[in-house]
Amino acid sequence: MTTAPAAAPTFAKGLVGVVAAQTGLSSVDGANGILTYRGLNIHDLAARVLYEEVVYLLFYGKLPQKQQLAKLTAELAANRKLPKAVLDHIRAAPRKATPMDVLRTAVSMLAYYDKETEDISVEATQRKALRLVAQFPTVIAAIHRARQGKDPIAPRPKLNHAANFMYMLHGKVASKLENDAMNLYLVLLADHSLNASTFTSRVASSTNADLHAAITAALGALKGNLHGGAAEATMNMLLEIGKVDKVDAFVENAFETKRKIMGIGHRIYKTGDPRARHLLEWAAKMEHDAGKGQRYVDMALSVERAVLRQKELYPNVDFFSAPMLYYLGVPTALDTCIFAASRIAGWSAHVLEQYNDSVLIRPGAEYIGSKSEVFVPLDERG
Ligand code: COA
Repeated sequence: MTTAPAAAPTFAKGLVGVVAAQTGLSSVDGANGILTYRGLNIHDLAARVLYEEVVYLLFYGKLPQKQQLAKLTAELAANRKLPKAVLDHIRAAPRKATPMDVLRTAVSMLAYYDKETEDISVEATQRKALRLVAQFPTVIAAIHRARQGKDPIAPRPKLNHAANFMYMLHGKVASKLENDAMNLYLVLLADHSLNASTFTSRVASSTNADLHAAITAALGALKGNLHGGAAEATMNMLLEIGKVDKVDAFVENAFETKRKIMGIGHRIYKTGDPRARHLLEWAAKMEHDAGKGQRYVDMALSVERAVLRQKELYPNVDFFSAPMLYYLGVPTALDTCIFAASRIAGWSAHVLEQYNDSVLIRPGAEYIGSKSEVFVPLDERG
């Protein structure tokens, strides 16, 4: 019996429309604007669960019962501290170094000190993943402090994940509103199907590289402003616009000159990003709390309206995150790191899935270079 020849592979620029993995972690329905984590709608989770519960959900498949949550919370609290050498690296980084570069190097360094770095079994990877979830906020807060010439703040085991993060960033226990806003942010960004950085983490782990290697690779992919860097770029854009009455001219000019409006548009969501409305709601709460005539949420809403007059493009997750993080006292340069502090859960869960799948990700490429060149020895080349 003859087998039918495989269909000729077709090139898909940007892998648009290509399904490159199977996952039970999160599903993104772009046409209807629906995001679920393990079948749970993000609208049911937002503002109702702790980030720790989402970590448990992603790593172990179900929302935790109380005792399970208490155990996970204790494990996270016990693993927040960093090796001295990593703190020294953060302190020694040039003041003008991009925080994402310092974070990426610090995470790569953490591999030296983890006792199970080379063990890629599911059990060891789950333990390492929990340690990384615990360590990310400590690294990021230490970077933030070092950039101000300040010493890092030691973690407080009694505070939950978001509250401890805010505490280590600012050196004081934040208000309930602020801690809840940080928790909501961490919950909403924890996983998002096969986005660029998650795909990167799966490609790296598909070679049997360890978790720290895969996460370091993912951090590299997250940095760009078409992905995780968009919140920083959005806030910088709002600061550049400066006043609500300048929005229309700014947006018109951007479309005329083909400058992209940051925080707008999405590869998958074409009718709106379901996370955006929660972030808008909480950014507005934070703005109200901040008082002092702050108007960045109004400005963002004006940008959204002005863009829609030009083209059917909607705010993505980074758009309202930008003013929300701003009101949480996060400098724009740190925004992408805060994104990473959430997505570490999703990346790690995808690495675990990838190990279970056990297949090397290695797509082909369509060769478009010259097909027949004649070799010329070095001393005869003109
Ligand atoms: N500002 C202005 N125009 C935009 C735009 C934006 N933010 N996003 C998309 N467009 C335009 C494109 O230029 C393109 O126009 P064209 O058809 O005239 O060429 C059209 O809308 C379709 O967009 P496209 O670039 O094909 O979508 P994509 O799926 O390749 O890109 C993004 C998706 C996210 C990369 C893109 O929307 C973008 O760059 N957004 C800004 C960065 C950002 O916020 N990233 C975070 C994503 S969560």
